[in-house]
Amino acid sequence: CGIVAYVGPREAYPILVKGLHRLEYRGYDSAGVAILDDDIQVYKKKGKVSDLEDHVSEKKHRGHVGIGHTRWATHGAPNDINAHPHVSGNGRLALVHNGIIENYGLLKTALEKVGHTFETETDTEVLVHLIEEIQSRESLPLEEAVRVALTRVVGAYAIAVVDRDEPEKIVAARKASPLVIGVGENEFFLGSDATPIIEYTRKVVYLNDEEIALISKDGILSIKTMGNEEQHPAIQELDMKLESLEKGGFEYFMLKEIHEQSKTISDCMRGRMNAEEGWIHLGGLEEFSNKLLDAQRFIIAGCGTSWHAGLIGEYLFEDLARIPVEVEYASELRYRNPIISEKDVVIALSQSGETADTLAALELAKSKGAMIYGIVNSVGSSIARLTDAGSYIHAGPEIGVASTKAFTGQVTLLSMMALSLARKRGTISQTYFLQLLHELSYIPAKVERVLKNENKIKFIASEIKDSANALYLGRGYNFPVALEGALKLKEISYIHAEGYPAAEMKHGPIALIDEHMPVIVIATNRSAYDKIVSNIQEVKARNGYVIAIVTEGDETISQMADSVIEIPDTEEPLTPLLSVIPLQLLSYHIALMRGCNVDQPRNLAKSVTVE
Ligand code: G6P
Repeated sequence: CGIVAYVGPREAYPILVKGLHRLEYRGYDSAGVAILDDDIQVYKKKGKVSDLEDHVSEKKHRGHVGIGHTRWATHGAPNDINAHPHVSGNGRLALVHNGIIENYGLLKTALEKVGHTFETETDTEVLVHLIEEIQSRESLPLEEAVRVALTRVVGAYAIAVVDRDEPEKIVAARKASPLVIGVGENEFFLGSDATPIIEYTRKVVYLNDEEIALISKDGILSIKTMGNEEQHPAIQELDMKLESLEKGGFEYFMLKEIHEQSKTISDCMRGRMNAEEGWIHLGGLEEFSNKLLDAQRFIIAGCGTSWHAGLIGEYLFEDLARIPVEVEYASELRYRNPIISEKDVVIALSQSGETADTLAALELAKSKGAMIYGIVNSVGSSIARLTDAGSYIHAGPEIGVASTKAFTGQVTLLSMMALSLARKRGTISQTYFLQLLHELSYIPAKVERVLKNENKIKFIASEIKDSANALYLGRGYNFPVALEGALKLKEISYIHAEGYPAAEMKHGPIALIDEHMPVIVIATNRSAYDKIVSNIQEVKARNGYVIAIVTEGDETISQMADSVIEIPDTEEPLTPLLSVIPLQLLSYHIALMRGCNVDQPRNLAKSVTVE
């Protein structure tokens, strides 16, 4: 979910709505705002922010203080009534919430006993009633009532609350869900990230876990801990460009982000390596390199696309640096009583830096004494701040829900990290090191070349767009790419797709193959080329429709496959950076042809801050 709020001399509504559009990638089941005027005006609507705007257009809303929310449903169906903001029983308070109140059942029963009745199925309504109860029983100012209420809450949250009887202020708090305060001239903004804030001010304060902030019209910004200790707000300067939040002429953010990859991969490498001079230097890694070099193993944790990048990391670290690696879904790692010690290094991969499961897995690893390293895109995010060390991938804001440039950024960073460690450990020769370094530096130009195939990919998309299923096959470094290709298709076109190691196909998925089943094979590997040729023959023998990603100039597979997409030759460990791009474009065009909303696929959210 996304939260936005404003207090100051301007009209709040336009700022809230614009901010909600920026945060819509975080969830789009429903949207709502509460504006303080003489009373609290609440408008909320199932669906997108634009549905809310249609709903509000006739109404008057001239207040200067307001809160807004765009929802990704957890408790309760995505309908008007469950949409945020939620209002207290006495109509005095309105609250927006991102996260989950785990003990809401117990709290609800207790509140019902003292006369509260509830209109919705949400945990959030319980929280606003709890604050109301404490406020009215103990006559506390809003910020105190919120603080006391939160001491009784178990769960994760970012909240913003307004009070009709204290109409000049907003109270916000966070625990395991992000909140950023924008500091202007006698005005304050609040956002789940900085995107709703940057056009008004570059000065921000990142709220820490278990902190409560009071922002008010008379310019007061006060931050306290849950234990009621006053904190000094650390104001930081934002470094983000407004253009990076706009589509820049592309129909969808996803397409823009696919096309940006040559640049984002260069940005990730900039200043960190030089192929001519033969060096590689990652700040975060150098500082802790002894710890990394002494590690008995790396554990890589992530979710979704980041987990796929992690799998490529496993191949890279084991193959080049000879460090044993395990890759884990963050959600599984944390709940399976894992064996982690101070001899391990746990590396978290996360675009947003806010994924709840990844964050919790890191906390667990830290508590067991492991060093924790973050590979993150979003600057200043929770994971970036929690880790002992880390490296940003510098891909810029990624807005399309299906991750593209963050994936190639993560893989670029992992490649640099593996090369640097391999060099330090002496596990690859100087010649091979230099060869890989040079090849890495050519990747951005080669990405441009892959993107030139877009028309051909569009044609292939038109051929398979009506399929019900698709199978993606790859071996070695390109097995995780097959998983990622399948995920991209599922996410945005709703075609069922599976990724498989090519050789494993014989143990199951081959039963599904017939003339209706497109099989997308990543067939660029040099090391297992003959094997993959055999796999393609196995598919063809069952009338499967084969689309092969091959190395430029390949003749053997070109004659066997129904369609081929060529990518430039490169060293095998670096092929994922090129082979994934046609798969991103293929999914994009299929989804577009099927009339899907590419940037906001149904039921998904970009940043999953609930477990
Ligand atoms: C969500 C997004 C995915 C993303 C995953 C992990 O499911 O829709 O695109 O890969 O979360 O997110 P993270 O921000 O941790 O990389």
